[in-house]
Amino acid sequence: MIGSGAPAGDPFQPHLEWGLKASFVSYISSLADGRIEAANGVWQAGNALAFPVSPATEVPENEIWFNGRVSFSGHGGMMKLDVIEPRIVNHDDRITLTIDEAGERVAIAELTETSVSNAFGLVKTRFSAVLTEAGSKLFNGQYPAGQQMEEVEVVLRG
Ligand code: HEM
Repeated sequence: MIGSGAPAGDPFQPHLEWGLKASFVSYISSLADGRIEAANGVWQAGNALAFPVSPATEVPENEIWFNGRVSFSGHGGMMKLDVIEPRIVNHDDRITLTIDEAGERVAIAELTETSVSNAFGLVKTRFSAVLTEAGSKLFNGQYPAGQQMEEVEVVLRG
């Protein structure tokens, strides 16, 4: 489903994995002109999108930055949703997933850590995710704030 230009990913490369919401991906797939286009290093990992960790050096200690963008479109261009350069931000009392929207960082989901596991020198942290108000807007209000999304997985070197 992701554009054929998407490279095969290296699962050992540190990355963030997220399938957004399975029913949204099915909805896009069901549209005659539905498209999912991945760019800037994003690859497909099962039912999820994998965003490679950013090589940026100015990353604050409480954040993890990822590169890449994915565009979902359909309905003759009237439906368009972009997920650009996601970041995990730890605010002590809560963890958010932010994306770039026209140069601004927007927190679209609140995360709750559910498990941590180690394998092959990598640490995999799983989070459950619910939409924020801004996340609800991203989906055109089709999902309310608080909507449970697919889980988010972060894979980093141990
Ligand atoms: C011309 C504009 C649009 C039309 C005609 C349209 C039509 C529809 C229809 C018929 C459904 C129900 C699908 C089903 O239950 O099988 C739906 C669901 C949905 N639409 Fe749209 N839509 C439009 C624009 C948008 C936009 C702009 C967004 C977001 C950026 C959006 C996001 C969604 C989402 C998230 C769902 C729910 C999918 C699910 O989880 O089942 N739509 N839309």
